[in-house]
Amino acid sequence: MLDKEKFYITTPIYYPSDKLHIGHSYCTVATDAMARYKRARGYDVMFLTGTDEHGQKIERIAEEKGVSPKEYVDEIVKSVKELWKLMNISYDRYIRTTDDYHVKAVQKIFKALYDKGEIYKSEYEGLYCTPCESFFIEKDLVDGKCPDCGRPVEKVKEESYFFRLSKYGDRIIKLLEEHPEFLEPASRRNEMINNFLKPGLTDLCVSRTSFKWGVPVDFDEGHIVYVWIDALSNYITAMGYGSDDDSDFKKYWPADVHVVGKEIVRFHTTIWPAMLMALELPLPKKVFGHGWLIIDGGKMSKSKGNVVDPVILCEKYGVDAIRYFLLREIAFGQDGNFTNEALINRMNSDLANDFGNLLSRTVGMIEKYFGGKLPAEQVENPLNEEIKAFAAKTVAKTEEYYDKMFFSDALNEIWCLIRRLNKYIDETAPWVLAKDESKKAELAGIMYVLAEGLRIISILIEPCMPSTPALCFEQLGITDPSLKEWNSAHSFGLLPRDIAVKKGEAIFPRIDVKKEPASIEKEAEKKAKAEEKAAKKAEKQKKKEETAEKPSEIVIDDFAKVNMKVGVILECKKVEKSDKLLVSQVKIGDEVRQIVSGVAKWYTPEDMVGRKVIVITNLKAVKLRGTLSQGMLLAASKGDKLELVSVSDDIPDGADIS
Ligand code: ME8
Ligand code: MG
Repeated sequence: MLDKEKFYITTPIYYPSDKLHIGHSYCTVATDAMARYKRARGYDVMFLTGTDEHGQKIERIAEEKGVSPKEYVDEIVKSVKELWKLMNISYDRYIRTTDDYHVKAVQKIFKALYDKGEIYKSEYEGLYCTPCESFFIEKDLVDGKCPDCGRPVEKVKEESYFFRLSKYGDRIIKLLEEHPEFLEPASRRNEMINNFLKPGLTDLCVSRTSFKWGVPVDFDEGHIVYVWIDALSNYITAMGYGSDDDSDFKKYWPADVHVVGKEIVRFHTTIWPAMLMALELPLPKKVFGHGWLIIDGGKMSKSKGNVVDPVILCEKYGVDAIRYFLLREIAFGQDGNFTNEALINRMNSDLANDFGNLLSRTVGMIEKYFGGKLPAEQVENPLNEEIKAFAAKTVAKTEEYYDKMFFSDALNEIWCLIRRLNKYIDETAPWVLAKDESKKAELAGIMYVLAEGLRIISILIEPCMPSTPALCFEQLGITDPSLKEWNSAHSFGLLPRDIAVKKGEAIFPRIDVKKEPASIEKEAEKKAKAEEKAAKKAEKQKKKEETAEKPSEIVIDDFAKVNMKVGVILECKKVEKSDKLLVSQVKIGDEVRQIVSGVAKWYTPEDMVGRKVIVITNLKAVKLRGTLSQGMLLAASKGDKLELVSVSDDIPDGADIS
């Protein structure tokens, strides 16, 4: 037997920085659809996903939560795996960058690059965006902020290792120009060439010393491998590269496609090919940069996360409905809007109306007119040839679109066939034929075409909607596995003529448009409120603990820095245009100073004159409301009470406080 052709496909490995939202699911669902399609076409598929668990961002989050980084990521990874299970993600391998074999392989890769002179030691001075784990130079910034996420960047300066990325710019431009299929869709290619490659690549800082949570450079203590070097390597380390058993690497590498979001295309088409070139390894065949799922005009974010919690959505509407929506509504490659209204519309019109009805009408009529079992003797309706041709064209087009990962177009083709079959029912009017005993054989022929059409449709939707085909096959009474295989969709008429159907529940129930969007938002709101309440409670507790704590300790030298003397107020008046401030002339021994204090609420200027006060004398002079203040008066306060601190008449002005 011939070996199957291999197909190696990957998703990005996710940062476990927060709960995953439907935007993350989108990317993984699309990758899953492609993996399933290729399996159905007979490929030996390797579908890799995982989590990108190192870096300062994770270290900080864990610290905030008061747990170790490993404890923190372990918890999130559990929920990521649960989500993929819920969403029917058929990954073959899951890599965690904290896995021992990966850490060791990354160390080997780093050392190999160093030994080849591709990595060298120097000093890094630049700007770093911690949430994105990316370095920037001044000109990359947008309004002084990170060009990817818009958050502030930090200046960092440290001894670091550098990768000779600059050396590879021309080779990468050539790669993109000579192999346009390397980066798709085409729009991303132009963007990369013009915005990133043509201006020239600079060498890349590939180690950090300011934090610990990452892969240590094993030949230079204190250095941690830059998280993108660590992360990108996953695509080969997961296949055993750099380990004792690299047979999977030999079998599956190069990857056939890396599916990635548009904001990380940059890393996958500069650093990654350059690393592979430096290691003298083959390049992946394709990087596919998909768009973003947008909600309310922006990329999905944590704050909006609840509304688009994939768990709520899947539990409420069913996984296949959600998968269908994601793949159908948004052209893969472009940005697309997520709204509950659009989701419910798709569910009602495409799923319940078009598809669900076609199945329930077909099965219902076979039960009603033939007691559930079709007679083998059938007569062809004149429309049947056209339907068969339509189905054949649908299969061919669907394959063409799946091959290009144009899932929305593929589903659109399939739905054209669904609608054609619904129309066929109206055109042939089975309820009329049913009244005429002499038309029974023709009626049976029509039912057969419908059932056979549904069989083919069930096969074609499987990559996108993996659990629906079984429900259709069950109602259509199809058990023979060979009738469920992809290739069988190429032949119209494989279904036995005398099938026996079994009516079941509606596969896609209708959703009440008026009630639903409100109710899912309510649910999300409820969840958000509960979370907010918990967070507030935690904060209150934290504040309580903080205030209960002693003020930070100082040593006597700290106290000695403050000079205080006794003074007596000679004159006092209000500061113009201020109802809070008084300005006093204070005699301190031989000198008189002007001091402004915010005590007008408690003292009139008359109250002030003649008072003994304590003055901080070495405070830098400032102007308050345009009036010079050369010191500060001590006061005691609680709530809305305030009193100036004083000494008895026995102590003269000019006396030291110590
Ligand atoms: O970037 N719509 O991880 P990540 C569509 N660890 N896709 C979205 C999305 C949205 N609203 N939000 C996120 C990383 N994504 C790195 C990858 S690979 C060696 C390392 C997609 O968790 C995003 O575009 O920030 C990216 O492809 C993926 O989720 C992981 O994002
Ligand atoms: Mg990201």
